[in-house]
Amino acid sequence: MSFDRSLKIAPSILSADFANFGQEIEAVEAQGADWIHVDVMDGHFVPNLTFGPPLCKAIRRHIKTVMDVHLMIAPVEPYIEAFADAGADVLTAHLEAGPHIHRTLQAIRGAGCKAGLALNPGTPVEALDYLLDMVDLVCVMTVNPGFGGQKFIHSQIAKVEKLRAMIGDRPVHIEIDGGITPETAPLMRAAGADVLVAGSAVFKGGSVQDPAPYGQNIRAIRTSCDTLV
Ligand code: DX5
Ligand code: ZN
Repeated sequence: MSFDRSLKIAPSILSADFANFGQEIEAVEAQGADWIHVDVMDGHFVPNLTFGPPLCKAIRRHIKTVMDVHLMIAPVEPYIEAFADAGADVLTAHLEAGPHIHRTLQAIRGAGCKAGLALNPGTPVEALDYLLDMVDLVCVMTVNPGFGGQKFIHSQIAKVEKLRAMIGDRPVHIEIDGGITPETAPLMRAAGADVLVAGSAVFKGGSVQDPAPYGQNIRAIRTSCDTLV
């Protein structure tokens, strides 16, 4: 996985057909997805339950791009090895998930994955002051984690601008997760983001049998950001 700041659209399979992940992933990649975002929820750190390492392992062979695993679980550390074995390229933990995030990030890199750090909307970027050299990606949540299809929280724009300045020349991706649409995507791209997660806005209107809307939806997000450059 090489580093650059080009725009990457990462569809979240939380909005895909749960009975058909393999084909959904292949369809959305064929329609222009850059990464595949996998939302792991534990019904404890967030009020919803999704899936764990065996599912990640099963879908891995359908992913040709990047498997971007977002852990909304606490604790994180007992499961790092299992998600690394399942083939995660990026493994993202929440800063709020426990008292020892520094150790968690070390363990993620130690397991051979890129280390991602996610911030809930209420967490300030100053919390990253002593962590930025330990991460490959910062995920700024623009909804409260737990569900797809929620409304974008605009206060996070200023946070991303601050984060972009803090990162400077470090090879750290800025990922935005939650409420991304062709309306909100350019706000985040302009603020400095390079990875945009989108669930409902990518999967709406399409299916494995009729995947063309996935492509139209991805292009609509991409084009909305093009007008900036
Ligand atoms: C929310 C998840 C997101 C979610 C995004 O807890 O982390 O990845 O699926 O969904 P949309 O794009 O519908 O807000
Ligand atoms: Zn996510």
